[in-house]
Amino acid sequence: MRGRLVAGNWKMHGSRATNPALLDAVLAGVAGLAGVECAVCVPFPYLSEASARLAGSKLALGAQTLSEFRSGAYTGEVSAAMLADFGCRFVLVGHSERRGLFGETDAQVAAKFAAAAKAGLTPVLCVGETLAEREGARTEQVVARQLDAVLDLSGAAALAGAVLAYEPVWAIGTGRTASPQQAQDVHAFLRARVAERDAGVAAKLRILYGGSVKPGNAAEIFAMKDVDGGLIGGASLVSEDFLAICKAAVSKG
Ligand code: PGA
Repeated sequence: MRGRLVAGNWKMHGSRATNPALLDAVLAGVAGLAGVECAVCVPFPYLSEASARLAGSKLALGAQTLSEFRSGAYTGEVSAAMLADFGCRFVLVGHSERRGLFGETDAQVAAKFAAAAKAGLTPVLCVGETLAEREGARTEQVVARQLDAVLDLSGAAALAGAVLAYEPVWAIGTGRTASPQQAQDVHAFLRARVAERDAGVAAKLRILYGGSVKPGNAAEIFAMKDVDGGLIGGASLVSEDFLAICKAAVSKG
């Protein structure tokens, strides 16, 4: 039985004035939840304060990206070791906004994944197709290419300590969600792709769905066989919504 995971991705939202109330409300809610692991990925400047607030709690801390380099003359970059230093457990790697808006390539994403794993963080590798790619029936080809870049560099064994997130680009922040069956189909495809290299790792791999997950649609998506939780953007900024989604992910098994 794979454990369930729900991770919030605050993206570039938050402030010192509003974060404490949001974090405290989520902390209070997850304290009573069993059967699901919950995490929040906050912007870099808030890691320190969030880390102090979350210490010893059931809410894990994550970051939204990292440098592929270990240390050195890389102005503006943040290393995996720095994230570990702040108590991060998770780090998103290759989110579609990083790929699409900041030009991250498959090779760079694979290097970031390797850097995160090496530092003992749990990388959450994000893959997903654009609307044009889906309409051109290229979904499997695209997510396979994104996944293979990591498998080729780090090997299937590296996925044993990682999480995969399927996030169709056309569903992110658009209010348009993949149907539970569309999500299931891609999740099953990804799991099978990993299984070609290592069946044991594939069976245990947690694959999250992300893209306009809300309290109203979470349960039906999480009910699918190969969906092990969610990566939540907009709804992670509202404590009641995020907690409702965490509750919907509680495993029944
Ligand atoms: P959304 O974002 O839930 O706002 O669609 C998901 C994500 O980008 O991780």
